[in-house]
Amino acid sequence: MLLIKSKQRDDPLNVHMYSYDRKEISMDKITLPKAPMLTSPNPVTLVCTCKPDGTTNLATVSWWTYLSFNPEMIAYAMAKTSYSGELVRNNKKVILTIPGETIKEAVMGCGMSTGRDTNKIAKLGIEMKSIEGSKIQIPAHSCLAIQCALKEFHEVGDHYLYICEVEQVFEDDKETPVFAWNGYTKIAAAQMGE
Ligand SMILES: Cc1cc2nc3c(=O)[nH]c(=O)nc-3n(C[C@H](O)[C@H](O)[C@H](O)COP(=O)(O)O)c2cc1C
Repeated sequence: MLLIKSKQRDDPLNVHMYSYDRKEISMDKITLPKAPMLTSPNPVTLVCTCKPDGTTNLATVSWWTYLSFNPEMIAYAMAKTSYSGELVRNNKKVILTIPGETIKEAVMGCGMSTGRDTNKIAKLGIEMKSIEGSKIQIPAHSCLAIQCALKEFHEVGDHYLYICEVEQVFEDDKETPVFAWNGYTKIAAAQMGE
């Protein structure tokens, strides 16, 4: 139902009065999992966490957002079953990276298996590098790295929402950022709109 607002031309009291005509518009009812097809391209990050042996785990996550610039905060949501979630709940440290186009196939790969029983970095041949002040490594081809400390997490349905304080942010403007297209089925760069 759409409310169409139209100003009355006749306004003897010289106040702005409005009348509302109810008009039916046609929209198809869908479920929320279909909505990301419409919002495509969606953002995509590689969430980097630290395994108990000190190596890094990578997981693909689209559901992240900036929360606050003062103080600097971000949040992301991950399924309760994810290994990355277990790791960040344990050691409170995480780095969100925006991957460069060079590793777009690996970005899809990091979303198809769990680090619980797979070394995704070795399996997918992802080149890694260190950043100052963190033992968690990041993919060498990253546009952005947001190093965070977990502040709190909340149960939200079948996911946990991780709310993080930003400690440091790094950029590499030589890398082209990628996005998730067609829902979450394709990883590719985006073009600037008109
Ligand atoms: C493009 C794409 C986006 C994804 N976004 C999310 C997300 O926002 N939240 C989530 O929980 N899983 C997301 N996934 C699925 C996880 O990456 C997947 O469950 C992964 O196996 C988790 O790895 P982990 O168990 O090592 O943490 C996404 C997968 C792909 C391919």
